[in-house]
Amino acid sequence: VTDLHDWRQAQEALRLKDAELAHTTRVMTMGEITSSIAHEINQPLGAILNYGRACLRLIKTGSADLTEIADVLSAIVNDADRASAVITRVRALSKKTPPGIATLQVSDLVTDILPLVRYELTKWGIVLKTDLSPDLSSVMGDRIQLEQVLLNLVINSIDAMKKVSEDRRRLSIEARSHVSEEKPFILIAVSDSGVGLEPEDLPKLFEAFYTTKPEGMGMGLAICRTIVEGHGGRLWATRNGDVGATFQFTVPVRLEEHPPSSG
Ligand SMILES: Nc1ncnc2c1ncn2[C@@H]1O[C@H](COP(=O)(O)OP(=O)(O)OP(=O)(O)O)[C@@H](O)[C@H]1O
Ligand SMILES: [Mg+2]
Repeated sequence: VTDLHDWRQAQEALRLKDAELAHTTRVMTMGEITSSIAHEINQPLGAILNYGRACLRLIKTGSADLTEIADVLSAIVNDADRASAVITRVRALSKKTPPGIATLQVSDLVTDILPLVRYELTKWGIVLKTDLSPDLSSVMGDRIQLEQVLLNLVINSIDAMKKVSEDRRRLSIEARSHVSEEKPFILIAVSDSGVGLEPEDLPKLFEAFYTTKPEGMGMGLAICRTIVEGHGGRLWATRNGDVGATFQFTVPVRLEEHPPSSG
């Protein structure tokens, strides 16, 4: 009984330690993309300012008809929503929240993190392609942790593409159904046309503190793998046939609860 108790405590401690580390690296990631985040908030704020001025002008010159003003106001509301959604994501990712399993839509996870890197993608001339089938099954997982995985993979891809010629910078995010050992998963693949991976680097990528970046800590992929495996999935890297690398991970599909049989 004591053994079992110790084992449980060890598991719990490990889980807490991982969550702690995941939080620390998440905050550091936020630090890396502050200019992108600032831009994603400033842009709608600037638009709101312009719309507001336009509205005032319409009212002052008396040339306004109400439907016109309503249009401008709804544009203001949209932009305010956009800025506020970014702030909500940043707060959620920066906060220390205990892990919690929920039913999630992979497409929502992608939509959540894209605004945080959109400016970075534009700045580096990276063409983004997403292929997220809308009728994919829901998955079970911790929203913040899974967004952290996606964000890390996307930032790694962006880094890998900074060093290649601008006209070949392409990022793709795809999700599809996947079966492994007869269990249903959703497979998410982040693929880039960056510098790619040497075969001898493949086994090292997921080791803690393995980095080829002057500013890197080498914790990103180690954390990603811990998170994904904590969810019962797998994370692995492959070299693309032509250029670049693909990182893909699986997350278990949320199984339908069977209605109680009346038999
Ligand atoms: N998409 C990719 N293309 C090519 N190499 C990659 C890619 N993703 C990761 N790597 C290699 O794997 C190394 C480890 O990545 P990891 O995310 O663990 O750490 P990092 O990005 O260097 O630092 P950080 O702790 O800030 O994430 C990188 O330094 C890079 O050499
Ligand atoms: Mg990284």
